[in-house]
Amino acid sequence: MAGAPPSAYIGLMSGTSMDGIDAVLVNFNNGQAELLQRQSIAYPDNVRNRLERVSQNEGTPDDLGELDHILGKLFGRAALEVIRSSPLSASDVAAIGSHGQTIRHKPEGQSPFTLQIGDPNLIAEMTGVTTVGDFRRRDMAAGGQGAPLVPAFHQAMFGDDSENRCIINIGGIANISWLPADKRQSTTGFDTGPGNALMDAWCLNQTGRHFDEDGHWAAEGRTDQALLSDMLTDAYFGQPAPKSTGKEKFNLAWIQTILHRHPDVLPSDVQRTLLELTVITIVRQLPSASGQRIFICGGGAKNPLLMKTLSLACNPMPVHATSELGVDPQWVEATAFAWLARQTLARQSGNLPAVTGAHGARILGAVYWP
Ligand SMILES: Nc1ncnc2c1ncn2[C@@H]1O[C@H](COP(=O)(O)OP(=O)(O)O)[C@@H](O)[C@H]1O
Ligand SMILES: [Mg+2]
Repeated sequence: MAGAPPSAYIGLMSGTSMDGIDAVLVNFNNGQAELLQRQSIAYPDNVRNRLERVSQNEGTPDDLGELDHILGKLFGRAALEVIRSSPLSASDVAAIGSHGQTIRHKPEGQSPFTLQIGDPNLIAEMTGVTTVGDFRRRDMAAGGQGAPLVPAFHQAMFGDDSENRCIINIGGIANISWLPADKRQSTTGFDTGPGNALMDAWCLNQTGRHFDEDGHWAAEGRTDQALLSDMLTDAYFGQPAPKSTGKEKFNLAWIQTILHRHPDVLPSDVQRTLLELTVITIVRQLPSASGQRIFICGGGAKNPLLMKTLSLACNPMPVHATSELGVDPQWVEATAFAWLARQTLARQSGNLPAVTGAHGARILGAVYWP
């Protein structure tokens, strides 16, 4: 190995669920991602609560600045931890790609912006490894939504010449990437709307638990068709791509506003209806293409009731987990940001204009040298 340039990358991801950091150490060979180490680090409760408050506009500039620092350190520690528990050392790592924690994502309007925190200066300082952060804003500066960014990675890793594939990432928000076998067609992708965000928000509000483990609570309830129909009237679901969204839209207040019109629905029935909403909005927005197989990633893949409901709704299209394509569902997004950092250092673009709506392909991210 002596003298060989470092070929390993670290990806650090924390999504809209605000559950914690997914960290991977990965090698990219011949279009394949070889996972060398991975680690999930939950946010301490007080950090998560502060993040939730700030993201609901209840924080001060002090809160935002302090959280930027606290998360920078947590991300740095996560990177050090995956290196420490692997056979590699920091000098074997070419770069760290850190998505940061989204606090707000408002891609529309006169002054569009997206805000991720978790100071990359600290990550570079703590690890001594080149760190790439701030991936979304260059795309937005070029007129794009700044999201979703994972479709380029999905295309590179999971695209296939002989079949159309659809990758569905079910995090807090759900997004799909459609990967056509025919390379003359563009890869497309967008946020379909809520993934787990609404189910998580309702579960926390009603039971004090951050999520409905294995969908047990939803399984006690029944879908309320009137409530579901009302939820489906939200204009976002019919809006054409490019589009992206976040928890500033799909949150507890969104549920409560609609529930005012349906005051008698049982809490467990609301939970089941929210699960059905996630499934229906995904399935209705799937591109119609023959011979397509569907692969799921993100935390939603761990919810058996969600997966069963999705499989039934997609029938006869088969639904798999991305593990069948070589990447475990939990680590796809973190691996995507390792790959995006690699793109940045290679001066290759990371966005797909057909997905984000940007004026063109752009090299994404800001580089923090060691
Ligand atoms: N065993 C499980 N049962 C039900 N839901 C789960 C389970 N494990 C994870 N989840 C869901 O996945 C979410 C985290 O998914 P993740 O992909 O990390 O989302 P994000 O990218 O938004 O952080 C949790 O908030 C929860 O809703
Ligand atoms: Mg997460």
